[in-house]
Amino acid sequence: MYEGKAKNIYSTDDEQLVIAEYKDQATALNGKKKDQISGKGALNNQITSLIFRELNRHGIETHFVKQISKTEQLNTKVEIIPLEVVVRYYTAGSFSKRFDLAEGIKFKTPLVEFYYKNDALDDPFINDEHVKFLEIATDEEIAILKEKALAVGAVLTELFSQIELKLIDFKLEFGRLPDGRIILADEISPDTSRLWDADNNHVDKDIYRRDLGDIIPIYQRVLDDLQTKFEGK
Ligand code: C5P
Repeated sequence: MYEGKAKNIYSTDDEQLVIAEYKDQATALNGKKKDQISGKGALNNQITSLIFRELNRHGIETHFVKQISKTEQLNTKVEIIPLEVVVRYYTAGSFSKRFDLAEGIKFKTPLVEFYYKNDALDDPFINDEHVKFLEIATDEEIAILKEKALAVGAVLTELFSQIELKLIDFKLEFGRLPDGRIILADEISPDTSRLWDADNNHVDKDIYRRDLGDIIPIYQRVLDDLQTKFEGK
């Protein structure tokens, strides 16, 4: 049905369900930096599956149905809303760059930002007025997206703190069900979040973006620690 940078989406016999296959491809700078990293797809699928199971357990409605193999998961089919919803607890990444600020400064209250999912435009930052003008979402839906993003953030902060990682920021995508209801979709992994350990080392895709080393052992540790904590493995 769809080939993305990190995942392929396949239809199934059931028109309400799709299969997401996580790929070994790593990209940064909107695809300008690209590499095959063996094992990354399996790690991100397993990490996302575990996290979405925990979110479902906390009453957050998501597209996740079940993990079906190391690299694949079964999801409810949704129409993806073309927004990257970013929540920030500490300055980092594009925020630090835009305002020439050090990374790691804590916001008094978390920030929620929207980026327009559009590769040709390089996913530009957009505000609520732009979202409405482009008819991506209504006022009411914008409020729902922000509220849900913060609710997800509260669960994620607690979940990662249990494996001694500080959640700096993360990106979510949401989708609409046929009845218009908005639920959480896509992926949550070290590819889509910034996680710092007690010494402020990056435990996320910044290792790849900034050429700081091999992400595989780092992502493996995140998976192992999550499985030990939440699945008793
Ligand atoms: O680059 P920036 O600081 O805006 O990223 C904020 C958060 O959103 C980071 O956790 C990053 O991994 C995530 N992100 C993403 N996909 C993008 C852009 C950002 O997952 N296309």
